[in-house]
Amino acid sequence: MVKERERWGSRSSFIFAAVGAAIGLGNVWRFPYITYRYGGGAFLIPYLIALITAGIPLMILEYSIGIKTQGAPPVALKKIWAKAEWIGWFSVVLVFVLAAYYANIMSWAVNYFYHSFTLAWGKTGPEINNFFNNVMLNKSTSPGVLGMVQWPVLLGLAITWIFIYLCLFRGVRTLGKIVYFTVGIPWLILIIMVIRGLTLPGAIEGLNYYLTPNFSALKDPIVWLAAYGQIFFTLSLAMGTLIVYASYLPEDSDITANAFITSLANCGTSFFAGFAVFSTLGYLAGSMGVTVPEVTTSGLGLAFITYPTAINLLPVASQLFGALFFLLLLTLGIDSAFSQIEPVVGSFVDKWGLKKEWILPAICIFGFIVGIPYTTRGGFYWVDIIDYFVANYGLTIVGLLECIVIGYVFGASKIRRYINSVSDVTIGPWWDIFIMVITPAILGISLIRALYKLMTEGYGGYPRWTAFTGIGLIVLLIVISFILSKSKEVTHE
Ligand code: PHE
Repeated sequence: MVKERERWGSRSSFIFAAVGAAIGLGNVWRFPYITYRYGGGAFLIPYLIALITAGIPLMILEYSIGIKTQGAPPVALKKIWAKAEWIGWFSVVLVFVLAAYYANIMSWAVNYFYHSFTLAWGKTGPEINNFFNNVMLNKSTSPGVLGMVQWPVLLGLAITWIFIYLCLFRGVRTLGKIVYFTVGIPWLILIIMVIRGLTLPGAIEGLNYYLTPNFSALKDPIVWLAAYGQIFFTLSLAMGTLIVYASYLPEDSDITANAFITSLANCGTSFFAGFAVFSTLGYLAGSMGVTVPEVTTSGLGLAFITYPTAINLLPVASQLFGALFFLLLLTLGIDSAFSQIEPVVGSFVDKWGLKKEWILPAICIFGFIVGIPYTTRGGFYWVDIIDYFVANYGLTIVGLLECIVIGYVFGASKIRRYINSVSDVTIGPWWDIFIMVITPAILGISLIRALYKLMTEGYGGYPRWTAFTGIGLIVLLIVISFILSKSKEVTHE
């Protein structure tokens, strides 16, 4: 007996789910901080190039893999090429590692939601900075010193996982309904934050930093890899999410229009959120008498410093807006968070015919446990380090491998014919050139150059051993992927 595959309720549910998976903390937390770290306007150029040369072509590719094979990543890639199953597993284990720290950032937002009722984060720039680093996280001095678990952060983490579970256990049909809310509402509040930011004194300084290109930064391979990493992260590429979501669509579903809509809606949101963050940064710099790059050293915490500042400065009802803002940040993140778990669950279900009823809670509990070290005093540094390695090295490696498998083994033009046969908007041979030559070449070159720089300089000013831990993790995940792909399938009749 072949079990009927789960299905979305409608095409728009799928688009909302895909947009919901894409739009998340990656847009309002990660994009601003990565942009800040790599020099504002300097970063936007590689970011745009990455969107065009990898983001859109690969999104089309992943949708088509999911729709055509009707399977979660390991099964899907195996159908494309028997030897490629491990690549599917690699994307699944990567997204699991990502989910564990992603939930931790959600937990910071849960805490801020709580604190917004009293505006506990303080009033001035330095106070707000201090609240994030020294009160809430109680940061230790280095990644080597983990220290105690911070209980409120741990509690927030547990709450996040419970919500992820609740969103997923009813299956994709319900999911399709939840996402209408989790995508629509956050946009409204973002608009308020942008308007508030832009009307602050000094906003223009921040915008200058955000929008003025700096061509000399383009020489740095690290900036390029970061741009590709961010595009993968924000579009949820190379993590199985899009493959598994697309696999719940019928085989004749449109591909290209969906891909353009999702990627443009997503990157538009990031760009827009940048205005809220950088205008507020300009204000903060002015009020503290420093330049924009000097406002904070904890790039990763940028969003947790600028948004509270903007909230404090709202003319009326800051508490209410604060609570609303963090609640909405959470709704924005939650659909991304559960979209990271769905491919993991889907892969186990598809390969071993395991029952979703128990594999889902098991994975949620495991994800929670893996996330506990991040709630310690040193956890902040590890979010930074693991995020860097997963996004920049893990995801780009998967992207590169997908290009090779589809481009050369399966045949780019063959899959393009399939894409065009089901899509409203057809794509030309340019796409083959991207998948076969341009995208893999850029990814490969950036990876090698950045790796070289990493070996010689380490990462982020942390002790050198942390960089080896990061690389070690990627290697370990590859080994696990091979083991998973070699294990025998069990087909339940
Ligand atoms: N794209 C999401 C964001 O920007 C993160 C994500 C990663 C979602 C992987 C799904 C899968 O926040």
